[in-house]
Formats: sequence, C-alpha cells, structure tokens
Amino acid sequence: MAVDPEVMALEEAVVRDRRHLHAHPELSFRERETVAYLRAQVEALGLSPQERGGGLVVDLAGGAGPGRTVAVRADMDALPVEEAEGLPFRSQAPGVMHACGHDAHMAIALGVLRRLVAGRDRLAGRVRFLFQPAEETPPGGALELIRAGALDGVEAIVGLHVNSLLPVGRAQVQSGPLLANSDVFEVEIEGVGGHGSQPHLTVDAALVAAQTVVHLQTVVSRRVDPLQPAVVSVGRIEAGTAHNIIPGRARVVGTVRTLSEGVRERVRAEMERIVRASADLAGASARLVYTEGYPAVVNPEGWPTTVLAETAAEVVGRAGVVQGPPWLAGEDFAYYQRHVPGAFFFLGCGGPDRAPHHSSAFALDEGCLVYGVDILARAAVRLAAGG
Ligand code: NI
Repeated sequence: MAVDPEVMALEEAVVRDRRHLHAHPELSFRERETVAYLRAQVEALGLSPQERGGGLVVDLAGGAGPGRTVAVRADMDALPVEEAEGLPFRSQAPGVMHACGHDAHMAIALGVLRRLVAGRDRLAGRVRFLFQPAEETPPGGALELIRAGALDGVEAIVGLHVNSLLPVGRAQVQSGPLLANSDVFEVEIEGVGGHGSQPHLTVDAALVAAQTVVHLQTVVSRRVDPLQPAVVSVGRIEAGTAHNIIPGRARVVGTVRTLSEGVRERVRAEMERIVRASADLAGASARLVYTEGYPAVVNPEGWPTTVLAETAAEVVGRAGVVQGPPWLAGEDFAYYQRHVPGAFFFLGCGGPDRAPHHSSAFALDEGCLVYGVDILARAAVRLAAGG
C-alpha cells in the first residue's frame, strides 16, 4: 500500500492545475475559461477533446488491446461565495469561489489523464473523461452531457467528491446510498382575507399554513418506517401584511431529503394528503408543488463498487478505506448511475479543524490530490481491462 511513484511524480502538475483552477472559479453553466484551461492541458498531451453539453469530453484509447469503455467524471463549477483572505492562490473572481472542492476534482481527473497517457501501452480498452458543468445548480450539468451522448458506449463510470470531514489518506467507499434525494416543495394556500376583527367572514390562510406545518411533522414521525432516513423541513412561511388583516393567501416552502425511491414516493404522497386535508378543514384550497431535485447517489452492491474499494485499499491501505453515514446533500452523479453502473466515493481532504464545504474559509489539504489520482487511475485501468 502506497501511492504509485509514477503518480507521485505528477504531484507538482496536479497541484499547479488545482491552484490555477482555484484562482479562476466560474459559476454553474458559465465555465468557459475553465473549459479553455482544461482543453489546453489536454491538447498539450496530444489529445483532441470535444466540447459537449457545456462540458469537455476526452477519449483516451489504450494501446494494449480491446476492453471496456470506462468514464471518469469531474464537476467544474464554483459557488457564489466570497473567499476569505489567506491563500496565495485565492480566487481572483469577486464573489465566486471553489468552496466545494470541484477545483480538486478537475485537477485529479487531469492527473488521471496524465497518468494514463504516460502508461498508455499498458491500458486496455478506453477511458473517457467527462468534465461536467453545473453540479451545484439543479437541473445540473450531468443531464446535458448525457443528452449530448457523453455516455454512449460507456460500460461503467467512477467519480469522487473531496470530503473535509475525513482526514487525508482516508477514502469512504461503500455500496448503497452515499448522497440523498434532494427535493424542494412549496405549498400555496388560498383562503379569504378580511378584517382582523371579523374572522367569521374570512378563511384564514395563516391558520391553514400553521396547521399544515404542524401536520407535516407527522410524515416522518408517523408515516415513514423509523429505520428509513427521511427529513421534511420547512424553511420559509409567508403570509399577511399587517396586524389587523387576516391573510387570504399563504405559502410554505421547504426541503425533503430521503435515501430511497420508495420513501421518497411515500413522503410525497403523504404530503399531498396532508396539504389537501389541512385546507379542507378550514374551507380553504391548497396546492403542493413538489420539485424533484437530484436523485440519491447509490452505489451498486457488487461491481464496479468492489473494484473501487479494492483500488482504494491498494492506495490508502485496508484501514484507510472507511464506511460511514451518507451525506444528505445532493449530487447529480446520480443521473449517470441511472444509465450505467457507477461508483462514487468520498476522498478525505481535511480533518476536524477544517472549515466546512460551501464556507468562505473552505481550504482543502492538497495532500489528498495524489490519493485521488491513484485510486481513480487504478480503478479506470482495471475496469477498462475488463476487471
Ligand atoms: Ni460539490
């Protein structure tokens, strides 16, 4: 167990790529300079990348005979966050920052490409690199790439997210759910407004909103199997304009997080019923607008998750490969998994004193980069060879 010396030799280039990308972040669906930089690096390796679906697709054919086509995915977008002072390669774009670590994902994927180009004679099959726009902004960039044919011929896909809760030298690889179904809901309530002194002449939308919020708490506590994770959170309630006016309209907005499709459907159906019944009680009308966000990232029980777990163990050791609770965040890697078998993992990039993802002080430990390169490169080589 150790990082391959051929990967260690690439560390300087990988860090350079990451720092350049970190200093020049771009928001979702606007990753033009990012694509231009990646394109230049890829062309310098003698390859011809293709722009597709707002992203960059690079095909590398091995020199060791036929095999599978395997995809490696990296997301490219940054966030609307003003980066804290401190780093010499701090963001040069005001109000925009790679606060989630997607700069590292791109640098790692480029590192895998550099590694495989150098060892092309030993690569059977074909590896396709998908540099994807707009992971942070639903509907996300994955669907665009898929529509543009980026998965055509692909038989397996792998990807990673850096994770500041894990120290460098750890990889969380597991079958089953890793990231959640991440949905948004809005309840629009319509009653009859009127004077605060004459409630009998109104249908109070504020009261219906309050009862709806209370009843929604029973979805998770009483309607979902207690052994199945689910969250229904109301984040916003809007109603009324003045102390002496009973509001005729109200709006309740929130999010739902689940790990399985069955629970997701159950929660949604229960919410429909509660929204309707709460309005009916008061003689109001109400409508639930439920918008499905990214589906859950769920790794298959066997292949190719098993291959990723093996290559991770070769690089970080058996003790370095951990399993743990999923994140209830969303990730559009899930869309690829609906088309081809795909395995996703968390790469440790931090420790207990690291600022969380999406914060202005987020700063990953660059020591993680070579681990990411080596794990993904080994997985890509093995899967492409038919393993
Ligand atoms: Ni992210």
